[in-house]
Amino acid sequence: MTTVLVTGGTGYIGSHTCVALIEAGYDVVVLDNLYNSNEAVLGRIEQITGTRPKFYRTDILDRQGLDRIFEENKIDAVIHFAGYKAVGESVQIPLTYYENNISGSVNLYQCMKDHNCKTLVFSSSATVYGAPKSVPISEDFETHTTNPYGATKLMNEQILTDLCHSDEEWTVILLRYFNPIGAHKSGLLGEVPNGIPNNLVPYIARVANGQLEFLRVWGNDYPTPDGTGVRDYIHVVDLADGHICALKYAAEHKGVEMINLGTGVGYSVLEVLHAYEKACGKELPYKIMERRPGDIATCYADTTKAKRLLGWEAKYGIDQMCEDSWNFTVKNPDGIK
Ligand code: WQD
Repeated sequence: MTTVLVTGGTGYIGSHTCVALIEAGYDVVVLDNLYNSNEAVLGRIEQITGTRPKFYRTDILDRQGLDRIFEENKIDAVIHFAGYKAVGESVQIPLTYYENNISGSVNLYQCMKDHNCKTLVFSSSATVYGAPKSVPISEDFETHTTNPYGATKLMNEQILTDLCHSDEEWTVILLRYFNPIGAHKSGLLGEVPNGIPNNLVPYIARVANGQLEFLRVWGNDYPTPDGTGVRDYIHVVDLADGHICALKYAAEHKGVEMINLGTGVGYSVLEVLHAYEKACGKELPYKIMERRPGDIATCYADTTKAKRLLGWEAKYGIDQMCEDSWNFTVKNPDGIK
């Protein structure tokens, strides 16, 4: 049996990946400091799979806590989600982001090395591409970040690339997520943002359930079909399955690979809003506002490498993503308790 340590395993993408891992026959150990999630998520994972992952409430900055996990469990691979992830917040408190996302991650990698665990899947982001020169975006495109959060993702990629070049026994898969949305079809797992959501779909969900008055559309003067921003939205369950494919690939290969996880299809803000109206059966109010600083017009993935290397491609379209998001929202108006 292969045992996988999932850091940040009670978070949005982490919890969905735990479900996919258990259903694929892996043993799962979860590490989380519960800064941005809560332990009740473990019970939801158990309700879906029949298995409650072994849990350690640990911070990746706590080296002794990390050592204990590796001493008490034979960890064969790590999927590393733990990290702060709010773009705007990272501009306000950069040192907190660099300490947690860089120092914490290096702590984890050092611990893995010391315990001879040299297989890692890392949660990176399409944000490392900055404003792309063209679309679709492929993995060989230039990288450029415009905020501390994105910088920590790119720095982790560089650290892990250097680590693989220093020791050929390492395997590292850097998964560059586009825009994860949606929820598990059971409605037991989903995205629970802290406070007012920054991201589009969690905000629309709050408008749909009456918690927010209307959607602020950040600009409709972009060079896109309807003037609003275009992004590559990917179902979180497709994203989770991509991690299983990455682990299987890592079991057969050494070295570092960076791979886009997206659908290869771009949808505008208004197209997503209309898809959500279909899902919830209501007309959703919105107002056109000024552009949001730092936003780009269009971003969507070239997905050929994921298909070629991992044999993976996204299965779900925008309607299913919105239906599953709405189902979770209706069943969990106050999040997961
Ligand atoms: C999507 C589109 C907005 C909110 C961010 C991070 C990225 C990744 C995914 C972690 C844009 C528009 C949004 C709203 C709006 N996260 N929008 N009104 O900015 O593409 O990516 O989340 O890795 O790193 O940068 O996602 O959902 O914030 O915005 O009009 O209330 O929706 O302008 O066009 P983004 P988003």
